Amino acid sequence: MSYLSATNMTGGYGKADILHDCTLTVDKGQIAVIVGPNGAGKSTAMKAVFGMLGLRAGQVTLDGTDISALSPQDRVKKGMGFVPQVNNVFPTMTVEENLEMGAFIRNDNYRVTMEQVFDLFPILKDKRRQNAGELSGGQRQQVAVGRALMTQPKLLMLDEPTAGVSPIVMDELFDRIIEVARTGISILMVEQNARQALEIADKGYVLVQGANKYTDTGQALLADPDVRRTFLGG
Ligand SMILES: Nc1ncnc2c1ncn2[C@@H]1O[C@H](COP(=O)(O)OP(=O)(O)OP(=O)(O)O)[C@@H](O)[C@H]1O
Ligand SMILES: [Mg+2]
Repeated sequence: MSYLSATNMTGGYGKADILHDCTLTVDKGQIAVIVGPNGAGKSTAMKAVFGMLGLRAGQVTLDGTDISALSPQDRVKKGMGFVPQVNNVFPTMTVEENLEMGAFIRNDNYRVTMEQVFDLFPILKDKRRQNAGELSGGQRQQVAVGRALMTQPKLLMLDEPTAGVSPIVMDELFDRIIEVARTGISILMVEQNARQALEIADKGYVLVQGANKYTDTGQALLADPDVRRTFLGG
């Protein structure tokens, strides 16, 4: 069984369903990438996995445990970390305070984890006393990822971590994400840079209108003529 198994999710915000029988799974230490057009429901699917959406149907299990009924905060305690697409840092707090906020559920000493985040993103150590709102887009995304890592998640969920950053910064962020996965953390990531993200994906999902349109390895999706023509610009 996969480490994360979110199966047959159906639901939305009001009466109309956004997700239709959507299934997402990630194995331990693997990278799963969700791509698809704007409005496809990618962020909605992430929220559903994290427990921010009331599902009409479907089930979420983490490491074999059914967590479908748990609040987002309780899912964090079970090992989920989530970096949302927007408002993912506290702009008027320093980098260090942002990381401390990430550790809110921990009662133990989180300094070691903070040092690990600084090892992963050295620029954050230099800027630790600076307000997150003063950082560049790429640096802010590093703060957001670092904040999520502060709870020592076993599954890290990232909604468009490279939004608004240059290609070089995107490549660097992807390298860091691969590094995180190599430590055994599973990654579930939504990406607008579909081609580059599928390059590093063990598994890829193309989501269209809230439903699974294509599911395969990242490499297989990149090689699929239909996927290329319709979603990857040829
Ligand atoms: N809070 C909300 N309340 C009502 N409808 C919403 C809400 N958030 C999103 N929607 C609707 O749900 C659908 C899917 O939106 P969602 O944000 O999940 O798409 P997405 O695939 O993440 O798009 P993008 O690539 O632009 O981030 C859209 O039609 C959107 O208008
Ligand atoms: Mg989105």
